[in-house]
Amino acid sequence: MKHVLFIATIALCLSCKESIKQSPVAPTLPINGLITQNAMVVSAREEASKIGSDIMESGGNAFDAMVATELALAVTYPYAGNLGGGGFMVYRTQYGEIGALDYREKAPMASKKDMYLDENGTYIQEKSKIGGLAVGVPGTIAGIFAVHEKLGSLPIEELIQPVIELANRGYVITPQQADRFIEYGPIFEQVNGEPSLYTQPHKAGDTIKNIALANTLSRISSEGRSEFYNGETGKKLVAFLQSKNGIITLEDLNAYEAEWREPIVFDYKDLRIISMSPPSSGGICLAQILKSIAPYPLKEYGHNSVKAIQVITEAERRAYADRSHYLGDPDYVEIPVDTLISDQYLKGRMDDFSFDKATPSSSVSFGTIQGYESTETTHYSIIDQFGNAIAVTTTLNAAFGSKLYSKDLGFFLNNEMDDFSAKPGEPNMFGLIGGEANAIAPHKRMLSSMTPTLVEKDGKLWMSVGTPGGSTIITSVLQTILNVYEYDMNIQEAVNAPRFHHQWLPDTVLFEPNSFPKETIDTLLQKGYTPDLENAPVIGKVDGILVLPNGNLEGGADKRGDDTAIGF
Ligand code: GLY
Repeated sequence: MKHVLFIATIALCLSCKESIKQSPVAPTLPINGLITQNAMVVSAREEASKIGSDIMESGGNAFDAMVATELALAVTYPYAGNLGGGGFMVYRTQYGEIGALDYREKAPMASKKDMYLDENGTYIQEKSKIGGLAVGVPGTIAGIFAVHEKLGSLPIEELIQPVIELANRGYVITPQQADRFIEYGPIFEQVNGEPSLYTQPHKAGDTIKNIALANTLSRISSEGRSEFYNGETGKKLVAFLQSKNGIITLEDLNAYEAEWREPIVFDYKDLRIISMSPPSSGGICLAQILKSIAPYPLKEYGHNSVKAIQVITEAERRAYADRSHYLGDPDYVEIPVDTLISDQYLKGRMDDFSFDKATPSSSVSFGTIQGYESTETTHYSIIDQFGNAIAVTTTLNAAFGSKLYSKDLGFFLNNEMDDFSAKPGEPNMFGLIGGEANAIAPHKRMLSSMTPTLVEKDGKLWMSVGTPGGSTIITSVLQTILNVYEYDMNIQEAVNAPRFHHQWLPDTVLFEPNSFPKETIDTLLQKGYTPDLENAPVIGKVDGILVLPNGNLEGGADKRGDDTAIGF
């Protein structure tokens, strides 16, 4: 009971902090993105983009760059970059072959459907958010090795070495990062019961060296994938988690495999979109929304006009209601993918939409009133000089995941277990309602919203795009594609443009504040929508690359964060 009270106090404190901590949209945004001729990486950190770009400049391909960029984010962006989390990658090779990798975390073997319920059946959400019980079996190291084995071209040691050097040399923290460390430091100390690298006071401009992480990466570089899942690192990780009420065992680590999946592929007008399949809901929801809005002349309505917002919101409402009922880990549940994204089904779903009045979410399906919490994840896009392209979204779930930090290993652990529906009908930390399809089961993967996406136009690669943002990921990716395709923005403008979000429940529409005319908001109110201009200072931090008609690459790096495009 004492433990529950303790984490409840921290969770309360976090829910306030996480809803206010994000910086507002930067006041002066660049209008044009970086343009390069050959290759580019756009990620949440300059050092990570640079390492990936350097790998390609020295002859590596996008998949080699993925390994280095992913690990460099773990060093320089502990907020979401990780060794202790998981992610998804969608790829398209220079020959047009496409595929997707699922390195999502899994529930430990000892997980139970009701593990976050108390004796009265009440959901104790804090237990799935903070501390050892919140942690899913990490997939990131399995992911990078799977990518390297199938598609990489340079020796793995050459890809990890610059990241080891970066961890030893240190990275300079940005003002945004400094604010976060100051804010979260005391929480890390409380959750972990001891001070660590990230509980020390850091200010912008300081250099953080993570020697423990450099050592972990050195062992992984020389011993390979098994070092994390069965070696010294794995054993230390299990001992650490078990000392923090965790239930992950060495058998869980041993059993972990990343899975190659068929991506979700669909057309929107003359675009062919390739996005992530379950256990992410991203591709299916994106397909449902884009196909539902395709018959409406969005360009004629105008960017962020009342009519455009209405059509998109209504399509989102129906897609997120389906998400909550049908989607889960495809290794455990049957998902009627073809039906869900069929033209006929989607036409029927939009039949009762009218421009006169909002469709109440209660008439699309039933639910209770939910709240939002902000969260983090991170996305990067890479295109190489050969024409290979990837979109990768990776996460610890919440900011710094479960807040558990292994001092010995140098990384934070995820709280991905909160992405399961701990109690069907109850919301998770994104306010998302889940159904039986996403109930907890041993070694099952939790449903995600991550939407790494590649787009082809006229049979050629056109865009790589993705974003963090929990449940707002899908709608942020959607708006970025529409901004370029329907509204003729360049990709940096498309990334900068103000965003809105709806997800069926709660039955409100989030708007980035100070970005939409009062008239628009008032008209939506009159039509029965409930605009919320307070709870989402920032919706998504989109990173993308657009292939220009002359073959050059244009980067869109979201200045809501410290995101940076680097290439050559
Ligand atoms: N943890 C965020 C997501 O997977 O959607």
